[in-house]
Amino acid sequence: MEKHEFYNNPRFHHVQHPLIEHKLALLRDVNTTTKQFVELAEEIAMLLTYEATKDLPLETVNVETPLETAPCQMISGKAVGIVPILRAGLGMVSGMQKLIPNAKVGHIGLYRDHDTHEPVEYYCKLPADAEQRLLLVVDPMLATGGSASDAIKMIKKRGVTRIKLCCLVSAPEGIRRVLADHPDIDLYVASVDRCLNENCYILPGLGDAGDRLFGTK
Ligand code: PRP
Ligand code: URA
Repeated sequence: MEKHEFYNNPRFHHVQHPLIEHKLALLRDVNTTTKQFVELAEEIAMLLTYEATKDLPLETVNVETPLETAPCQMISGKAVGIVPILRAGLGMVSGMQKLIPNAKVGHIGLYRDHDTHEPVEYYCKLPADAEQRLLLVVDPMLATGGSASDAIKMIKKRGVTRIKLCCLVSAPEGIRRVLADHPDIDLYVASVDRCLNENCYILPGLGDAGDRLFGTK
């Protein structure tokens, strides 16, 4: 595995685990069905969430066990919001909600123009108390980084300061772009792939995540 310079950036987190590697291999496989793809994306998103929420603040609460009162730790306050970048980001939400059922979900609508490869914004609806939460912005694919960088810009404009970006498959180009545009956010990825092709698709990648999630091709 190439040791890119961004591995020295403490804001960059390549989440590595045998379960993630195994599930990513299945996710990439062209013969994986839509049903399997949806399940795998959900599962890898859960594993990323485990890492991305490692520093959530805890508070002590007293819990009555059948035997006595136990001082326990629970996540304090309004903790998390999940913000999928439409449309493929939707494929990561259900897994994350299983781990954080109280998370509010916002949506950001962006698509990449197929000719210019530039992101076009069409929708943004965040939880009303978004600025009190850690927002996990999610998108399976980080290619040029244009969509994620713009989405984060839109979220910051609405007063949110605590933002983490979670992606399943990323290219070095997109990682560099996001870390350069937003040095104040943390980035979690399950894979760092080799490069982009001439159409800005990730190699080896997994193809078009949205089409594979929703069976549109
Ligand atoms: C894909 C993907 C990201 C974006 C990544 O979405 O889900 O949002 O491309 O590319 P970038 O890093 O170069 O911006 P797409 O625009 O194809 O829309 P979709 O989710 O509706 O399929
Ligand atoms: N969007 C995708 O869905 N796949 C890529 O490889 C790049 C952008």
